[in-house]
Amino acid sequence: MRRKLLLGNWKMNKLASEAREFAINARPLAELAKKHQIDLGVAPTYLSLAATKEAASKDMIVAAQNCHFKESGAYTGEVSIPMLKEFGIDWVIIGHSERRAYDNETNLKCHDKMAALFANNMVPVYCVGETLQEFEEGRTKEVVGTQIREGLAGFTSEDVKHLVVAYEPVWSIGTGKNASSEIAQDICKFVRDVMREMLGDVADEIRVLYGGSVKPVNVKEYLSCPDVDGALVGGASLKIDSYTELLNNIL
Ligand code: PGA
Repeated sequence: MRRKLLLGNWKMNKLASEAREFAINARPLAELAKKHQIDLGVAPTYLSLAATKEAASKDMIVAAQNCHFKESGAYTGEVSIPMLKEFGIDWVIIGHSERRAYDNETNLKCHDKMAALFANNMVPVYCVGETLQEFEEGRTKEVVGTQIREGLAGFTSEDVKHLVVAYEPVWSIGTGKNASSEIAQDICKFVRDVMREMLGDVADEIRVLYGGSVKPVNVKEYLSCPDVDGALVGGASLKIDSYTELLNNIL
């Protein structure tokens, strides 16, 4: 049985003081979600992680938006996994399309980061998805299949037991042009099928989320799809009212 998961990706938004205030206001939501067997979380910037974690309910997942795969060293501007762990952070978004587009995050880099996370018993939320051009050329499955195969190459069923995958078509992120629930279901099922080929039955335990212009009005439709186990939400996760509505609409 895969628990539903609602994860807010705050991207480069919120001062630490704002993140802290949100975390305090969200405390009752985390408890409500737990009662309904739903996992609820947010991913603040590095600088807001400590304030958010400290202020949030212990039932709230607080995820980082990135990490480096080395433990320490000459990597200016980077943050390592032990540094995250020191603050009790054990979830990390990997390979978000904005990082793939602007920070040269390749499938291989994602693989190395996930290997380091698995070795540390942490949870990667591995993002995959095609660009508008790839979608229009009918190449979605080719692109997403390669992202899954290269990103997860060589891992064992034991390694991936905590893995979460998020299918986010790039053309739907922040655009208000959300993919239909049929597309979301089709590609989330495809992701699971590829993982089953690679890893066996553990694929049925791995949560696959949809992301891209998820709003309170459409969240329920996505989560009603048999292979969509939750949502990764950007814009609609920033305000406590809309975040509350997202949760209320899937209870
Ligand atoms: P959006 O972002 O909900 O604002 O489209 C989703 C994401 O980038 O994870």
